[in-house]
Amino acid sequence: MTDLETSDLTGLEAIAHGAARVNVDDKAMINARADVNQLLPLKYRWAWEKYLAGCNNHWMPTEVAMQADIALWKSSTGLTEDERLMLKRNLGFFATAESLVANNLVLAVYQRLTNPECRQYLLRQAFEEAVHTHTFQYICESLGLSAGELFNMYREVPSITAKDAWALKYTQGLENGALRDDQDFLRDLVAFYVVFEGMWFYTGFAQILSLGRRNKMVGIAEQYQYILRDESIHLNFGIDCINQIKLENPHLWGAEFQQEVRGMLTEACALEVAYARDTMPRGMLGLSAELCEQYMHFITDRRAQQIGLAPIFGEAENPFPWMSEAMDLKKEKNFFETRVTEYQTGGSLDWD
Ligand SMILES: [Fe+2]
Ligand SMILES: [Fe+2]
Repeated sequence: MTDLETSDLTGLEAIAHGAARVNVDDKAMINARADVNQLLPLKYRWAWEKYLAGCNNHWMPTEVAMQADIALWKSSTGLTEDERLMLKRNLGFFATAESLVANNLVLAVYQRLTNPECRQYLLRQAFEEAVHTHTFQYICESLGLSAGELFNMYREVPSITAKDAWALKYTQGLENGALRDDQDFLRDLVAFYVVFEGMWFYTGFAQILSLGRRNKMVGIAEQYQYILRDESIHLNFGIDCINQIKLENPHLWGAEFQQEVRGMLTEACALEVAYARDTMPRGMLGLSAELCEQYMHFITDRRAQQIGLAPIFGEAENPFPWMSEAMDLKKEKNFFETRVTEYQTGGSLDWD
């Protein structure tokens, strides 16, 4: 057995014959003492419920028809130059972002979360990230985009590089299999769940859903809506994890650390605003870099509040009220119910 004082249980320890049976009270988010290979008895029902919700949302990108998108993309008058630039940079960000998120999940988060129901959700999430990466492969192939251009954008477009490099700092501590300390792990959860999936995906969602509302690139817009539905659960799982770890380990959430997390959210917001300027230098579709900045302030404050921090910008108004069906957590349940039902009955999504 590993030394429980200094190492997390991995589940790979030798089988302890005759050891006491798992007591639900021994289960813990991190540094658990209970066998991590036993799902039952459940301690965190919220994690199990998110696993079930993820399974109910199953979809594949190849089920979405792309003919209308292909025709529009190939037509010389279908999209403006600004729209084409936005679309390409948007796809370029997501094409590798999904892999960065997946890497962090399986290489870092899985190792540190010592709870089987949380790990069950992580396995589902990891598959969903693979489906998302598949989506960008499918879009690339359908539209005949340059794979080299799309998948290298994170190394060639400075505003995308800046975001990805910022996030990578928080997961690189795991190189060579080295475990980091608990506070480093919390930083990693904030960087990937709250910032990457909870803030940086949302400008991209707004851009593509805005195109879809105008009947442009409707196949991609439908795929983004499914991705958004998945990501909403990823984000909420991450927030539940952070809040539960705080509850079980209050010493990890001191005033100084809270200040540091506020600084992380502020930096991440500035990086997203720069990305919005880069993808929409002149504004379009009722979106502009200024409105995206206001939107990102609104989202940042929501995320701060969800992990128990005071607002950073005090932005009360969502400048994209048409996104509220998907964005507003109070309405999220309805959003899922409607879309899941429609998907499972084979109906197409409505734009309203
Ligand atoms: Fe994803
Ligand atoms: Fe995700």
